[in-house]
Amino acid sequence: MTRVTIRGFDIYKGYLDTGAQTRLIEVLRPVLKSAPLFRPTTARGKEMSVRMTSAGTHGWVSDRRGYRYEPAHPAGAGWPAIPEEILGIWRDLTGLERLPDSCLVNYYGEGARMGMHQDRDEADFSYPVVSVSLGDDALFRIGNTTRGGKTESVWLNSGDVAVMGGPARLTYHGIDRIRFGSSRLLPKGGRINLTLRVVT
Ligand code: SIN
Ligand code: MN
Repeated sequence: MTRVTIRGFDIYKGYLDTGAQTRLIEVLRPVLKSAPLFRPTTARGKEMSVRMTSAGTHGWVSDRRGYRYEPAHPAGAGWPAIPEEILGIWRDLTGLERLPDSCLVNYYGEGARMGMHQDRDEADFSYPVVSVSLGDDALFRIGNTTRGGKTESVWLNSGDVAVMGGPARLTYHGIDRIRFGSSRLLPKGGRINLTLRVVT
């Protein structure tokens, strides 16, 4: 494993070996079964290309009413618990007693991307965000704490984990594109990103 720091984002390259990545996919299977992926729409009514679901006490949703955390999946049931294997990553990299309230699961199929944004729907920005990459490679773009300006890009590969904390907690970031089919971790291809956050 090597760590690179880009604009305050600590990226642990190869944090999860192949066995650990496969294990995470296994523990995510029941999560996806009880809380199926859905395609959020923005407040303006545009469908996002990424499909999402969550685990934890709080799940991130977006629809015509805007972005927010909700205690239940749009279909009505409460979110499943965050699997222990995922909480272990948080504990190891943050060293915090406080555990995340939310594990957002993003699925990027062919052509999916995520525009530049800040993570700012949480109450306390002193907690870091931990972001796990699984499956296909993704081109991650890192900007500034205000919109616009020069950016830097880095490829995130399966098993990489990024920690956004300190002044970088509110840095703009996004996914320009994935290299569909570049990994064999997911049987149907694509990429899963797990984002762990303290919400309340
Ligand atoms: C996000 O910022 O919500 C996702 C980032 C990623 O997919 O790596
Ligand atoms: Mn984000």
